[in-house]
Amino acid sequence: MRAPLVDGFGRVHTDLRLSLTDRCNLRCTYCMPAEGLDWLPRPQLLTDDELVRLVGVFASLGVRTVRLTGGEPLLRRGLPGLVARLSELGLALSLTTNGVGLERQAEALRAAGLRRVNVSLDTLRPDRFLELTLRDRHADVLRGLAAARAAGLAPVKVNTVLMRGVNDDEAPELLDWALEHGYALRFIEQMPLDPQHGWDRGTMVDADEILAVLGRTHALTPVEVRGSAPAEEFLVDGGPATVGVVGSVTRPFCGSCDRLRLTADGQVRNCLFARDESDLRAPLREGASDDELADRLRLAVAGKKKGHGIGEPGFVQPDRPMSAIGG
Ligand code: 5AD
Ligand code: SF4
Repeated sequence: MRAPLVDGFGRVHTDLRLSLTDRCNLRCTYCMPAEGLDWLPRPQLLTDDELVRLVGVFASLGVRTVRLTGGEPLLRRGLPGLVARLSELGLALSLTTNGVGLERQAEALRAAGLRRVNVSLDTLRPDRFLELTLRDRHADVLRGLAAARAAGLAPVKVNTVLMRGVNDDEAPELLDWALEHGYALRFIEQMPLDPQHGWDRGTMVDADEILAVLGRTHALTPVEVRGSAPAEEFLVDGGPATVGVVGSVTRPFCGSCDRLRLTADGQVRNCLFARDESDLRAPLREGASDDELADRLRLAVAGKKKGHGIGEPGFVQPDRPMSAIGG
């Protein structure tokens, strides 16, 4: 193995978020306009062979865990085949999905070596789901979750973004539902990543508020081990079930960040909020060696900033929306 990926602040990078497509079959209003976005042209997307080669370089530099994201990663053709090839590299693989296509693929993904899933779900009400995502697929997501659990993808995590006046009245219901089904629920503070630039810190439902609301119906005890994990976990009513809160904005965890991102078109991002990217696709296609690719990657990591700077003067949202970066 080569020397690990350490940045200027001593953070070692062992986790990769790999975006497999920027497309999605939902239109969550905080993420995409109704008509969708200008999708990346196919020739710009990394092929499976290219992905496996690049991820191999990440792995040779100490990356151990890979989370597959999108857009919606289940839209990538032949996903179980890709998962099998990545898991042969000795990596622990997980998947972040909207759950719509999970019922059909959970079993094959598990057989190919996938270990865990995070399913995004912001509401338990089908009519509200339609308003929020512009697609009538709520039942598909619930079936996808059940299929993931049945396939042995454990734990099955559910990610929820609460929005004021939209679904912020559902937090206790969502928690009770998750406890009943054995899903590990996590609430994520909304971040300024929407292409419409509609994010407003003043109306954001923050971690303090979420915990206060949940605390009215359940006893929450902080679980001490956080490490580099973004979520703060709490035992619910003494455990063993937990609920998580990801306070990306009000409780940033940049100081222990171990994450890198590779977009579907082969650009390395050292932060969700980075304004610069490092191109690996062009050198890859021009015949660069693994050593040359590793050098580029090292350089990309070296330039990582101390924190995301949301709320500081001069903060500018990244040009790419969340769906093209990968969550
Ligand atoms: N802030 C926080 N979470 C977001 N997601 C999408 N956009 C945002 C945002 N602006 C979430 C989705 C999904 C995951 C991939 O990221 O709801 O759970
Ligand atoms: Fe699709 Fe996820 Fe964006 Fe919703 S948040 S539109 S599921 S990429």
